[in-house]
Amino acid sequence: MRNLVIAVDGPAGAGKSTIAKIIANRLNINYIDTGAMYRAITYKCLKNNIDINNEEEVVKLAKDTDIDFRDNNIYIDGNILKEEIRTMEVSNNVSNVAKIKEVRYLMVDVQREIGKRNSVILDGRDIGSYVFPNADYKFYLVATPEERGQRRFKELKEKGYETTLEEIIKDIIKRDEIDSNREFAPLVKADDAIEIDTTGKTIDDVVESVISKINL
Ligand code: DC
Repeated sequence: MRNLVIAVDGPAGAGKSTIAKIIANRLNINYIDTGAMYRAITYKCLKNNIDINNEEEVVKLAKDTDIDFRDNNIYIDGNILKEEIRTMEVSNNVSNVAKIKEVRYLMVDVQREIGKRNSVILDGRDIGSYVFPNADYKFYLVATPEERGQRRFKELKEKGYETTLEEIIKDIIKRDEIDSNREFAPLVKADDAIEIDTTGKTIDDVVESVISKINL
């Protein structure tokens, strides 16, 4: 059987990773969190005191970085990355790394390679529009900025961050703006993607909406 590719795109906090992970389990296919790749490069830059605005330095670092996924976990240079890529510092810098074309080329190569070898569900911003324009299924998840902010706020509070809902909503809107307006492979709904508004819906509701569209 040929490999199945499912694309899940949408703005920050729309529920993409939660849904994609559950679908991956249900269908017994791999899950690739492509945002984690851009976060991993951002984390490594910050750790090495590389100026995020110095594109040349960021690209050099990205070229020197080995990125891999094993058992749905991301590894850079052989080391697993978990919560260290989910900090507010990484979140607030990642869009500026993700807008660098050469960095995207490198990440997209890894993503396409994985899609060639395995059946996968990938979540991101440009999966259906750019990385896998011929994906078997494309979903585009959206929700109001208030609801997306609430979700992130809850997550961050549980992790012990001192922040406000207003600040989180502001950060999310700013990130979406950079992601949507970048020149190369921006956040956009592919023409043939199925849009699902997750506002006010439970995780189970959204999973069922997605699953109901997939014929295996
Ligand atoms: O989904 P996330 O919040 O972990 O994504 C982190 C950032 O990476 C986000 O600002 C957009 C960017 N990104 C991207 O440009 N392309 C992708 N395929 C995935 C994420």
